[in-house]
Amino acid sequence: MPEIIEPFRIKAVEPIRFTTQSQRLEILRHAHWNPFLIDADDVLIDLLTDSGTSAMSAAQWGALMVGDESYAGSRSFKRFEAKVREIFGFKHVIPTHQGRAAEKILMSIVGGKGKAVPNNNHFDTTRANVEFTGAEAVDLVIDEGRDPDSMHPFKGSIDVARLRSFLDERGGRESVPVGMITITNNTGGGQPVSMENIRAVSALYREFEVPFIIDSCRFAENSWFIKQREPGYLDRAPKAIAQEMFSHADGATMSLKKDGFGNIGGFLALNDDSLAEQARNLLILTEGFPTYGGLAGRDLEALAVGLDEALDERYLEYRVATIRYLSEGLTRIGVKVVQPPGGHAVYVDVKRFYPQIPAAQFPAQALVCELYEKGGIRGVEIGSVMFGRLVDGEEVPADRELVRLAMPRRVYTQAHVNYILEVFQRLWADRESVRGLGIVRQAPFLRHFTAEFERV
Ligand code: F0G
Repeated sequence: MPEIIEPFRIKAVEPIRFTTQSQRLEILRHAHWNPFLIDADDVLIDLLTDSGTSAMSAAQWGALMVGDESYAGSRSFKRFEAKVREIFGFKHVIPTHQGRAAEKILMSIVGGKGKAVPNNNHFDTTRANVEFTGAEAVDLVIDEGRDPDSMHPFKGSIDVARLRSFLDERGGRESVPVGMITITNNTGGGQPVSMENIRAVSALYREFEVPFIIDSCRFAENSWFIKQREPGYLDRAPKAIAQEMFSHADGATMSLKKDGFGNIGGFLALNDDSLAEQARNLLILTEGFPTYGGLAGRDLEALAVGLDEALDERYLEYRVATIRYLSEGLTRIGVKVVQPPGGHAVYVDVKRFYPQIPAAQFPAQALVCELYEKGGIRGVEIGSVMFGRLVDGEEVPADRELVRLAMPRRVYTQAHVNYILEVFQRLWADRESVRGLGIVRQAPFLRHFTAEFERV
């Protein structure tokens, strides 16, 4: 097989700012040990998220110039709508400024007290939007999906037997207003869902007359994994695989900041006329007129181009190889990461990095701070800071203590990844001396964004 290389050359570059370790310690102190509160200019390599941080292509930058900024009936919306329909196949396309706006609109319509929404794993904003309505967000990922060492090829899949007993118990559409699945499963390690599982979950939701909504942020990466790992798909184009996935669903929420190559953007897509009408009414209230939603006409143009680029085979092959390269490098050092490598990020298992730090002292937050202090690298905690607090305020340790290193698309080169590995080599060598953190200030929900810490 030929060497996998970056399938692009670079036309525009952005300098990154170098700082010293003592400067970074000061910056960290100022940010109350929460890297979300650090200025981006003070970050050398930013792996906080792959969301909205990707590099647009020359074709996307060109498309910006032909954006039609008309308030109503914009030509750019028609192009966007046609592209979304071509890939996703849903009747109604409702543009939003990002994924959570689509979630908010959908959950405002269908959520409420006494209801429950199943998913493989709800992402934090999805969970918050479900819970904000008083409904319950229920995670039903397969057992292998919670085992960091399991090499199951589709660890994002839903446990179909548990979903059946959940639906048996909770009944149909009255109490389960929508059923979801997230592709790829971000919270569970960026792990894909198989076509077989999508088909089985769809059949169950249909049996119970529950509308099936796919949280589809990383649908192109999921399509690539199906192509590589699921029998019968090797000869199929990623786009055809995506079309097949969505043919099993009744709608989708989408953050185009991921597999849309957008710096901003999203949509809610639905087949049901009545749901779509209610959604458009809410859209007008908070996002904008239905032919632009929360976006400029130029955004809609760039996103229509980005959706095609995200499905390009050479790009997807390179994308997944990048994640694998980082994952294998860390494994060689001795660091345990969630296996197998997912599509957009590497997830470090911090319970086995800092076993001396208890969950109540947020080991993954400690690693995130070390990464910044020693290397200027910004990652994100996915552990007890993000998930360890129940709606009623009770502290319950999260299942897992992970640090996610998310790779922006088409942004960093292999030398950047080598540097990340050098920093990890140092952190691994010093791991026994590191202590935990305590929270001194926090918001009632989604606390990880703004919480303030101090070192124990
Ligand atoms: N669903 C999933 C699976 C996500 O990963 C995200 C965002 C959203 C929904 C919400 O989309 O940000 O456009 O409002 N994930 C980002 C991340 C923030 O860093 O993983 P959004």
